[in-house]
Amino acid sequence: MLTEKMEKQLNEHINAEFYSAHLYLSMSAYFRSIDLLGFANWMKVQFDEEMFHAMKFFEFVDQRDGRVRLTAIEAPPIEWDSPLPVFQYTYEHEQMVSKQINDLVSLSIEEKDHATNNFLQWFVAEQVEEESTVKTVLKKLKFVGDSKSALLMVDQELSQRVFTPPVEKA
Ligand SMILES: [Fe+2]
Ligand SMILES: [Fe+2]
Repeated sequence: MLTEKMEKQLNEHINAEFYSAHLYLSMSAYFRSIDLLGFANWMKVQFDEEMFHAMKFFEFVDQRDGRVRLTAIEAPPIEWDSPLPVFQYTYEHEQMVSKQINDLVSLSIEEKDHATNNFLQWFVAEQVEEESTVKTVLKKLKFVGDSKSALLMVDQELSQRVFTPPVEKA
């Protein structure tokens, strides 16, 4: 059983994960529009991951006898000037999400909700990975600078990313 406060915050976070999915799909569309299909693929995989996160929260709230309440998802940005600001934006966004997860962890401690605390630990580790993956691409884009051929090499590399849902514990 979730406390009212915990249920409310978890529901807000379901919306935040859906917003992240929306944001990355919008970025994927931007990359398609400038013919960087490898970057578009990378962002589509990022979208798949965020949908997976949202559903993980969705199922957890339901499992704990909470009520999932979906709300409107904010519209994401649509245009960027070049790939670099997209990844700067993504990096800042992931740092913000990490902070939101930390706030949820703090609330679970306040509410003495050990089950939610345990559930959230997966996300604590996941955010470390998310920030690091984004930072790696961001660093590459800084090296690329104005070189179109270098940009195409990164595009080729990002075309290889595939979504593999993590194996759940039985
Ligand atoms: Fe996420
Ligand atoms: Fe994320």
